[in-house]
Order: sequence, then structure tokens, then C-alpha cells
Amino acid sequence: MQITVIGCGYVGLVTAACFAEMGNRVACVDTSAERVEALHRGISPIFEPGIEALLQTNHAAGRLTFSSQLNPVLRNSEVVFIAVGTPSAADGSADVSQILEVAAQLGGALESPTIVVCKSTAPVGTACRVQSILDQHCQRRGVNWRHSVVSNPEFLKEGAAIDDFMRPDRIILGAEDASAERTMRRLYEPFVRNHDRILCMPRRAAEMTKYAANTFLATKISFINEVANLCESLGVDVEEVRKGIGADPRIGHHFIYAGCGYGGSCFPKDIRAMLHMAQEREMQLPILQAVEARNQAQKTWPMRMLRKLYSEGVAGKTVAIWGLAFKPGTDDIRDAPSRVLIEGLLDLGARVQAFDPIASENIAKAYPEAVARGQLRLFSDPYAVLNDADALALITEWKQFRQPDFALMARLMREPVIVDGRNQYDPAVLGTFGFRHVGVGRVP
Ligand code: UGA
Repeated sequence: MQITVIGCGYVGLVTAACFAEMGNRVACVDTSAERVEALHRGISPIFEPGIEALLQTNHAAGRLTFSSQLNPVLRNSEVVFIAVGTPSAADGSADVSQILEVAAQLGGALESPTIVVCKSTAPVGTACRVQSILDQHCQRRGVNWRHSVVSNPEFLKEGAAIDDFMRPDRIILGAEDASAERTMRRLYEPFVRNHDRILCMPRRAAEMTKYAANTFLATKISFINEVANLCESLGVDVEEVRKGIGADPRIGHHFIYAGCGYGGSCFPKDIRAMLHMAQEREMQLPILQAVEARNQAQKTWPMRMLRKLYSEGVAGKTVAIWGLAFKPGTDDIRDAPSRVLIEGLLDLGARVQAFDPIASENIAKAYPEAVARGQLRLFSDPYAVLNDADALALITEWKQFRQPDFALMARLMREPVIVDGRNQYDPAVLGTFGFRHVGVGRVP
């Protein structure tokens, strides 16, 4: 099939590369000429394991092309995916202006009936708005056909996006005409062979499914974090409780790991957008308000623990941080808990020595002044950050932190203290190396 993907960001590139890998001819379009130029040289503008190789092989095979011009690539495209950003606006709503702008461009440029797919996460009703824009263009041009707008939200996890795309749990298709549904089913068939994982529904239901899925997962996390906080004060180990409740298949083991809060571009943004959708209808969503509030408070957990440990104050202390990305497998630091800790420590006059396998550069760009005055130092070796540190805060659970050399760590640090924001360590094992361990909802 001939496909166009508009937006060479995270969702667009993964979508384009995976469809090309299945033999489709895919044209990727992005307004940033710089991005397109880098893609031509085989360089991916996003960090995602495996993406660069997939882009390069499909580009070399001629199945994947990159362009900053929309009109020429649209010719013969049966399906056009809109995968542009929907950032949070100041009032918390998802800003859909980029989607609507693309819809207007498509309206002016498409010469024959085309399936236009909204892939970006967008509030309920966005696909209908795109349909009206396209319909208006068709009317103005006096043609007697319509384009079909489909809502097809993505469920990709950063760091595992290619696998998620290639082996999806489900494909959600919000389609309102049978022919568009048939084409979309044909396009996704290679990804769900032998399993009927395509769910078709009205467009508004598809849009809502995406928000409900993400906010439900965020709710699980804030719920276990709340339980962990109570465990902490009752002297109960939340890790025991996690295993105990996860064994019930109705609850399940996923997304019930207590920690220092969720971050990333999706959960915080989608909760805000869902709250805004309710607000527009003069409704309250008290559960989601609480999920958001718990998460904001949970991100301050490492700082609260450090303040508790150092009653004399953290000013002048040196705190080492392991992990800056909002989760392992990405260099994304949007809404990352590490930032709340860094900002708190800088404000209180502590020195920060941090290590992350790939996100350090982004942190350096976010706090250039602190880096320039030497209050925030970024290292390329995890052990180097421990030199003379008064405490280590583990914020992102990269695999390489799972079994470190505790004896060496204890020797390097001024005080062998670990504030374990992801419950990676066994307090008993750490005790044998002389460490003081503070976990989320753990028994000291
Ligand atoms: C999330 C969803 O998981 C994807 O299904 C969805 O497609 C994506 O948003 C999106 O809307 O694009 P992502 O934000 O990449 O994916 O990351 P997750 O793996 O879901 O992790 C989110 C955050 O929750 C991380 O900060 C992680 O550390 C935290 N988390 C996760 C916990 O604190 N505890 C857990 O038990 C699980």
C-alpha cells in the first residue's frame, strides 16, 4: 500500500518504519528540513532502540522516503497518517492546532478520496473536526466524493515502541465507513496475523479509549504509591503487598511498582487533557485529580527523604543521582521525577553529581546555569558520581544499576546512603555492605 505519514516525531517515525518493514511504500513528511536532512543521512531525530536500523534498511530498499514537501508525496497515497504533536496548552487542554492545520493542508492538496488517520492522541471530537475541515474543502472544490477520517490511537511505550507496534495487544480503529475499515484492517493484518486483535468502534470511542487506557495505568501507579506511603508509616513492606495483590489476575502484576512517580510526555499530558474535557462539560473527575496530585507529591519523595536524613539541612551536601530519564530505555526527560529532585537540591544549595546512560545531555541543556557554576555536574561513569557523595538517589531503574559493585560504592561515598526511588535494592543485602537504605514503602 502507498502511505504518507505526516510528522517525523516519535509516533510518526515508528509508524512509518514498521509499515515500510511490512512491504508498504511509505513517505514521511516533516516541516523541519533539518530533521528530513538528518533522516536522509540515516540519523534518527528520536532515541528509540532499533529505530535507526529500521529506518536505514527500509530507506535503502526504497520503501521509505523523507520529504519536507507535502503535496508531491500525496499523489497515489491511499492512507495518510497525521502524527503531529498535541502538546498541553496552558489551560491543560491538548493543543490540536497542528492537527487542524495539517487537515486544512490535506483538504487543499488531496486530489482523490483518501483515508486520513488521526494517530496523534487527541481529545474526543478531534477526528470529527478533521472530517468537517476536509468536507468543507471538498464542497468548495465542488467534488462529489468525501475523504474518510479514521481515529487510530497508538499504544507505544517509549523504549519498546517497535516491539509494541510489531506485536500489538490490540489495534483500535475508530472508523465510520465500511470501506475505510476494510482498508485499515488490510493494512494492520500482517501485525495481527493469527490473532483477532482489531477492535472497530465509533471514532469518539476510539479517542476516548486512548485517554482511558493511559489514565487507568497512571491511576494504578498513584494507587500503589499511596498504599506505599501508608505502608511506610505502618512498618509494612509494600514489595510484599505488591506481590500479594498482583497474584490476583483481576489486578495483575503490571504497573503496580511503587516509586518516585511517573513522568514522560503521555501520562501527565493525557490526565490534564482528560480533566479539561470534563471541565468543558462542567464535570469533575475527582479520581483523576487525585491521581495527578498524588503523582506531583510522589515526585518530591526523594527530596523529602533526603531532608529527613539530614536534619541539619542539605545545603552544602553532595548528592549523587543515578538515572535522569523519566524511565529506562529513553533519553526523554519531560516531566521526569529527576527534575523535581535536581531543582529541589539546587534551590537548597546542595551539589548534584548525576549519571544517566543517555539523558545527561538533555539535563545539561535544561539547567545550563547550574552546570556553568558547577553546582550540577554530569558524568559519563556511574561510579564517578559517587566520589565524596553524602547520598545516592536512584531515580531511573536502568538495568545497569541492578547489580552494582556495592563494596566499591561504599568506599567511594562519604556516607553510604541510598535513597532508592524505584525499590531496586534489597535492604538486607545493602545492610551487609554498610549501607543505609531508604525505599518507597519499605521497612528500613
Ligand atoms: C505510556 C503507555 O504505557 C503507552 O501504552 C502509551 O502508548 C504511551 O504512554 C503514549 O501515550 O504514547 P510511556 O509514557 O512511554 O507509555 O511509558 P510507561 O512505560 O507507560 O511509563 C510511564 C511512567 O510510569 C514512567 O515514568 C515509569 O517509571 C512509571 N511507572 C510505570 C511507575 O512508576 N510504576 C509502574 O509500575 C510502571
